[in-house]
Amino acid sequence: MGVAVVTGANRGLGAEWVHQLLESGWEVYAGYRSELGRLSTLENSKLTTHQLDVRSNDSVAAFANHAPERIDLLVNNAGVADGRWRNLNEIDDVWALEVIDINALGPVRVVKALYGKMNHDSLTNVAMISSLMASIDDCHMGRSYAYRASKTALNMFTVAMKKEAIEDNISFVILHPGWVKTDMGGDRAPVEIPDSVSGMRQVIATRNLENTGQFVQFDGDILPW
Ligand SMILES: NC(=O)c1ccc[n+]([C@@H]2O[C@H](COP(=O)([O-])OP(=O)(O)OC[C@H]3O[C@@H](n4cnc5c(N)ncnc54)[C@H](OP(=O)(O)O)[C@@H]3O)[C@@H](O)[C@H]2O)c1
Repeated sequence: MGVAVVTGANRGLGAEWVHQLLESGWEVYAGYRSELGRLSTLENSKLTTHQLDVRSNDSVAAFANHAPERIDLLVNNAGVADGRWRNLNEIDDVWALEVIDINALGPVRVVKALYGKMNHDSLTNVAMISSLMASIDDCHMGRSYAYRASKTALNMFTVAMKKEAIEDNISFVILHPGWVKTDMGGDRAPVEIPDSVSGMRQVIATRNLENTGQFVQFDGDILPW
C-alpha cells in the first residue's frame, strides 16, 4: 500500500474511494470543495483532508503544497453534471464552459500540480473518472451536451498526456464507474457505490506502463472512443 489522493471526496464515489482505500491500509489525502460530508465520519489516522476546488489554480496549488511528498495513486474523481437541458436551444454557454472547466480542465490542473510528487522510481497510477457518455461511438441518445463534451475532452487530455508520463513511471487509466446510485446518478441507477469502486480498484490493479491510457468500465470491459 502507499499514498493515495482523491478529489471530490466528501460524498458519492469519492467518499467510497477514501473508505475502501483506508480499509486496505492506504494513506489517503482527500480533497473536499466546501463541506467534509462523509469524510467527517471516516476517522482514521491515515486520513488527511484539505479544501480543494478544481476550478481554481490557487486552490489546486494550496492542495498540492500540503499533499504528501510521494504519491502512488491519484483518483481524479470530482465532477459535475450539466443540468440535462432538454434540447439544444436550452444550452447555456456560461454553464457549459463551467462544466468543461470542472470536468476536463480540473483533473489536468491536479495532475500538473501533483506531477513532481508522482514522478518517482516506482509506478504511480492516475485514474481519470470519466464516463461512457464521453464516448463518441456510443452517443446514440444525444443530450447532456456539456457533460458529454467535457468528459470527451478529459479523455483526449489524458491520452495526449500519457506518452510524456510513461518516461516518469506514471500510468493513466480512464474509468467509467458505471451508472451508479449517487446524487449524480440518481435512485434508478443499477450499480451500487461500493461495487463500482471495488470494480474500479480491480481495474487499477491491472495497470502498467504498457496499457496506459485505456478507456475501461468498472467491470474491466474496454470501451469504444
Ligand atoms: N454516478 C454516476 O452514475 C456516474 C457515471 C459516470 C461518471 N460519473 C463520474 O464519477 C465522478 C463522481 O460522481 P458521483 O456520482 O460520485 O457524483 P456526486 O455524488 O455528485 O459527487 C461529485 C463530487 O464532485 C465534487 N465536486 C464538484 N465540483 C467540484 C469542484 N469544482 N472542485 C472540487 N470538487 C468538486 C462534489 O463536491 P461538492 O459536494 O462540494 O459538490 C462531490 O464531492 C464524477 O466525475 C462523475 O462525472 C458518475
